[in-house]
Amino acid sequence: MPKLCIALDTDYDKAVELINALKDKPIVFKVGYKLFISHHRKITDLIKQKGFELFLDLKLHDIPSTIRNAVLSALDLGADYLTVHIVSGKDALREAVNTAKGIKLLGVTLLTSLEEDQLKEWGLCISKEDYILNLSSLALNCGIEGLVCSGKELPLLKSKFNFFAVVPGVRLYGEPQDDQKRVVRIEEAIRNGADMIVVGRSILTAKDPIKKVEEILRLLENPSLGHPPKL
Ligand code: C5P
Repeated sequence: MPKLCIALDTDYDKAVELINALKDKPIVFKVGYKLFISHHRKITDLIKQKGFELFLDLKLHDIPSTIRNAVLSALDLGADYLTVHIVSGKDALREAVNTAKGIKLLGVTLLTSLEEDQLKEWGLCISKEDYILNLSSLALNCGIEGLVCSGKELPLLKSKFNFFAVVPGVRLYGEPQDDQKRVVRIEEAIRNGADMIVVGRSILTAKDPIKKVEEILRLLENPSLGHPPKL
């Protein structure tokens, strides 16, 4: 069964409430900029103390020595997953891999909020698929274990590479896409081979976030429970 990762893109009190309420559930908690910048160790220590896996979504993008130092600090926090932008380049990725010892490094290709027109604006005459394939191949050749990818590109990537697939930009039937562009339904992400789905706003904005988590966990166990229509 794929893992459920909850993106704690919320304030500290709500995050603590969720972490405490979900004790003993098979969940990975993702800490991103919002919580990490304001609360760093306070929140990461709580996640680890409660026995959950910690996903540090800091999307590192820097020179090799800075990346190395960041990975060392992530090790110190007990991170289980850490994101690195693949465009940091081969040397930085190798430095991260050589330092990571036990942290699963996840390469970021193209953010799920971006589309092909963004590549053109960057002056890149390449299709979105080729861009993602090139970066994925580069990262995996450097020893990166996982890729963060949209559920839309998942079948293509899974047909070419063996990797741990982390899929954000997922929604349940009828939910808004928000700022995400390359969104898929949770059931589709699972069927396409996601190893971990990342869910933020579906849970955080739900009337009853715990009920929503339980609904998603049931879907992960049995994707055929989802509604048939697409988003
Ligand atoms: O609220 P929502 O479910 O759209 O949140 C998705 C989460 O996944 C956010 O924390 C976002 O930073 C993260 N993410 C993403 N696209 C990527 C990498 C990470 O949406 N390519």
